[in-house]
Amino acid sequence: MQLKGKKILIGITASIAAYKIPILVRLLKKEEAEVQVIMTEASRDFVSQLTLATLSGNPAYHLPFNTIDGSWNSHVKFGLWADLMLIAPLSAATMSKMAHGHSDNLLTTTYLSAKCPVYFAPAMDLDMFAHPSTQKNIDTLISYGNHLIEAQTGELASGLCGAGRMEEPEKILEIIINHFKKKDDFADKKILITAGPTYEAIDPVRFIGNFSSGRMGYAIAHEFAIRGAEVTLVSGPSSQKVTHFNIQRLGVQSAQQMFEICDNLFEQTDIAVMAAAVADFRPKNVPTSKIKKEDGLTQLKLEPTVDILKTLGIQKKHQILIGFALETTEELKNAQKKLQNKNCDAIVLNSLQEAGAGFGHDTNKISIIDKFLNKTDYPLKSKTEVAIDICDFILKFNSKSTMP
Ligand code: CTP
Repeated sequence: MQLKGKKILIGITASIAAYKIPILVRLLKKEEAEVQVIMTEASRDFVSQLTLATLSGNPAYHLPFNTIDGSWNSHVKFGLWADLMLIAPLSAATMSKMAHGHSDNLLTTTYLSAKCPVYFAPAMDLDMFAHPSTQKNIDTLISYGNHLIEAQTGELASGLCGAGRMEEPEKILEIIINHFKKKDDFADKKILITAGPTYEAIDPVRFIGNFSSGRMGYAIAHEFAIRGAEVTLVSGPSSQKVTHFNIQRLGVQSAQQMFEICDNLFEQTDIAVMAAAVADFRPKNVPTSKIKKEDGLTQLKLEPTVDILKTLGIQKKHQILIGFALETTEELKNAQKKLQNKNCDAIVLNSLQEAGAGFGHDTNKISIIDKFLNKTDYPLKSKTEVAIDICDFILKFNSKSTMP
């Protein structure tokens, strides 16, 4: 009964994914939430109003007035009633209206009146989703303080396969439960996170890089942000999206650029989590013109990059410093060595030997070792859930270390 008494307002727009909303309504009701549904006119072709009314226990409205007695279905009242508004599935058309304050139906007027947090779950075909105007509208909605429930990659109603698939109801339920669980765990805390790979230029067209997607670091940034922190995310090249307005993303390419920003920000940072896969070496002399094939790579000489984590570990005063260790052999021994050499408060070990863990996966399997060498093992989980575990760990660690 994790949502007992919570008032959830669901707005449904025209998308095939609307068929999943009755399942979500049932899941919410099982958690004892109160649910009301409003729909756009066109969404009624995709899911039945009767089904939604029956499952939610409330009429499912789509007009601003009642056709029988002419009474007003007040968007203001809906907006005030809700503890959380979820717009799912969100079509490109309604997304565009929301981004531009266009209010021509019950759903969009309610959205503009809503005083509560608003979550939105886009659902559309891959080309519509990838269109720059859609991506810009998503960014605009995030900048207004709305929360994005990211579209997934998979089979789409068109028969095509790609990004644009609405998140599954079970996952949306988890996000809603999480929303109510914690709010101010890290309020007023300044968090510094590194994520993604770094690219070290060989010449103007080539680089040394690695397979890191940045997903883990972005998930940690998101988790801190929804718990009230002010997050700076220093990211190497990554296609991941920032999903929360409390996150400021600073994009970099090289280890040196990442270092300079971290070095600048560390003093006013409370907690730093170094999740980036920083290149350890970079080409020594980078020519201004492309190296020709016939010249071979004989001129390629490498030098070490700066170790960002280690440098911050030397400067550490009041900060909590968390490192990552990506290991393929002697995991525990190597992770403990890094923890101590880099003066971290804890290190998150992920082993590339674990199936489903590490680069390029949606899942990860971690152990966290603290500076007293206590080790906590976690099972294989989604990177979102791993981010929750890491934040919970830091929260506990912080409260212990600030105890009188
Ligand atoms: N790290 C860093 N700067 C570097 C290299 C690594 O800040 N130049 C950080 C990573 O972000 C991570 C931790 O150090 O938090 C450990 O990174 P990892 O690649 O596992 O270890 P390395 O120190 O690079 O050592 P090795 O590659 O030999 O395992």
